Amino acid sequence: MTAPDLTVDIGGLKLRNPVMTASGTFGYAREFDHYIDLNRLGAVIVKGLSLKPSKGNPPPRIVETDCGMLNAIGLENVGIDAFIEDKLPFLGSLFPPAIANIYGKTVEEYALLAERMEPLEGVKGVEVNISCPNVKEGGVAFGSDPKIAREVVAAVREKTSKHLMVKLSPNVTDIALMARVTEDAGADALSVINTITAMAVDLDTRRPKLANVTGGLSGPAIKPVALRMVWQVAQSVKIPVIGVGGIMNAKDALEFMLVGATAVQVGTANFINPDSTMQILDGMEAWLRKEGVGDVRALIGALETG
Ligand SMILES: Cc1cc2nc3c(=O)[nH]c(=O)nc-3n(C[C@H](O)[C@H](O)[C@H](O)COP(=O)(O)O)c2cc1C
Repeated sequence: MTAPDLTVDIGGLKLRNPVMTASGTFGYAREFDHYIDLNRLGAVIVKGLSLKPSKGNPPPRIVETDCGMLNAIGLENVGIDAFIEDKLPFLGSLFPPAIANIYGKTVEEYALLAERMEPLEGVKGVEVNISCPNVKEGGVAFGSDPKIAREVVAAVREKTSKHLMVKLSPNVTDIALMARVTEDAGADALSVINTITAMAVDLDTRRPKLANVTGGLSGPAIKPVALRMVWQVAQSVKIPVIGVGGIMNAKDALEFMLVGATAVQVGTANFINPDSTMQILDGMEAWLRKEGVGDVRALIGALETG
């Protein structure tokens, strides 16, 4: 059998395969250059960027939990100026499209970030994070209020002709509603899901394990929730859905495609094994060959529920 076709189109952006990196778990890609062949990735999504550099929250800000990890990084990042100056030249030299994940504290900040990204040739798309649970202003408020979410996405849409992906928060009652609202506001694709607000406690010290008290849960613990949300969102919108949440191996990635994801993002797995994305890619290809599936797109939404 000839090699299966792994190419996918995530709403105007063509990828050589469906394996992307999840924001905040892959630095600015160079950090992984010694471990993997970055050019084999479908796309690279960088750490969330703000207008000004940010130190994030005080430590401890990462805790391991059963089947997952809890983080309250608080969006530490180099800021857009240093990103353009120091990080983008390397990212722009890679084959996979670089997608800039952005967050602001106001609608205007999101719009300004999109405006700054617009002339940058090395940035092929923008992922709008309206779902970080760890910042006091904005953050989860944007992601859980349909009216504000619509405003943020519309403001970014007005400033960018680049591919526009919106990352939805799982910390909502009706994810399908948030999906429809952000699709209407101009998103080209939706990434589903960000981390789930959670906490961990130390019984002996009687203190929370994170200085921020609460954080965002990721890893295998959230996979069933992410699968359910991707499934619901895929049935509610016409634009492509990108599955994120607890993808540790090829089987996980393919399951997300079955419930309706066009592509996937790999996050926490990168902390356990920096080679995870490559293993997932190889494993997907091997599974498709074994099953005699010539085109990965045949799996998208092919779940049988009847
Ligand atoms: C340490 C850490 C930092 C993260 N930073 C960001 C970020 O800056 N922007 C964002 O949209 N998501 C961020 N995320 C969320 C991930 O991109 C992803 O949505 C989430 O971790 C679920 O996927 P996973 O279970 O594969 O890790 C972060 C996650 C972790 C664990």
